[in-house]
Amino acid sequence: MDLGGVGQAGVDLGSAEQGAMSGKVALVTGAGRGIGAAIAARLAESGWRVVAADRDPDGSPPPGGRDVVCDVADEAAVAALVAGIAAAEGRLDGLVCNAGIMIRKPIGAISLAEWNRVLATNLTSTFLLVRAAETLLRAARGAVVAIASTRAHMSEPDTEAYAASKGGLVALTHALAISLGPEIRVNAISPGWIATKGPPPRPEDHADHPAGRVGQPADIAAMAAWLLGPDSGFVTGAEFIADGGMTRKMIYRD
Ligand SMILES: NC(=O)c1ccc[n+]([C@@H]2O[C@H](COP(=O)([O-])OP(=O)(O)OC[C@H]3O[C@@H](n4cnc5c(N)ncnc54)[C@H](O)[C@@H]3O)[C@@H](O)[C@H]2O)c1
Repeated sequence: MDLGGVGQAGVDLGSAEQGAMSGKVALVTGAGRGIGAAIAARLAESGWRVVAADRDPDGSPPPGGRDVVCDVADEAAVAALVAGIAAAEGRLDGLVCNAGIMIRKPIGAISLAEWNRVLATNLTSTFLLVRAAETLLRAARGAVVAIASTRAHMSEPDTEAYAASKGGLVALTHALAISLGPEIRVNAISPGWIATKGPPPRPEDHADHPAGRVGQPADIAAMAAWLLGPDSGFVTGAEFIADGGMTRKMIYRD
């Protein structure tokens, strides 16, 4: 599992938390790298058995868990993924819908097929996963976490498909929370800039953030672990913005 040198939570969780989660099963999508890999690793550290799904897994499953090849935009593949968990693990307590892509093109250049691919991967996948996993999650009184984005609320140019998909995911989160409660809690995390790929952030990138730094995958992993665990039992239908304060920052130039 490639954490890009930045993902592992690296915290001592203590035996109490590990014990509480022992025997519980989580499915994390897009777990081959980046934020998804960090979430899978953090959950495994906490005692979860993690099924790490990716269309392109990196070949090193989380400790005690397993990798599965799955394109979450494919209805049959998602159904097979969840059926495989029912057969192999026999339960599902946590679902993290993390897989996502961005195609950045001007509105006049992006094709319908590209638009549909972004929406299918980032938004429709969560519908497919929750629909397929509803029975298992209800039985386990489980929880779902969708990884959205602050781009649900703010934009750079040429990101319409991505922004629409993430805005849809925030809305889907509260709709699912109302439909599936009280047995299943459903929440979203909207990360800001998380250093997963590309050149490392520059000092000025860190300084731009009210929190003083760009985010790390472990920041999102810790929040996801909390949202799947018992300490967040009164929280559902909510969106948690984890962006170092960037969406609260006014920028005026004289
Ligand atoms: N990194 C950021 O700054 C940031 C900010 C806000 C939101 N997010 C969101 O967080 C999530 C993870 O982002 P990341 O930066 O770790 O991305 P990443 O590109 O590093 O990793 C994404 C993973 O998802 C997998 N994936 C892509 N399409 C898939 C599909 N159809 N089926 C199965 N797996 C698929 C990829 O193979 C990859 O392993 C995404 O939903 C992204 O939109 C990221």
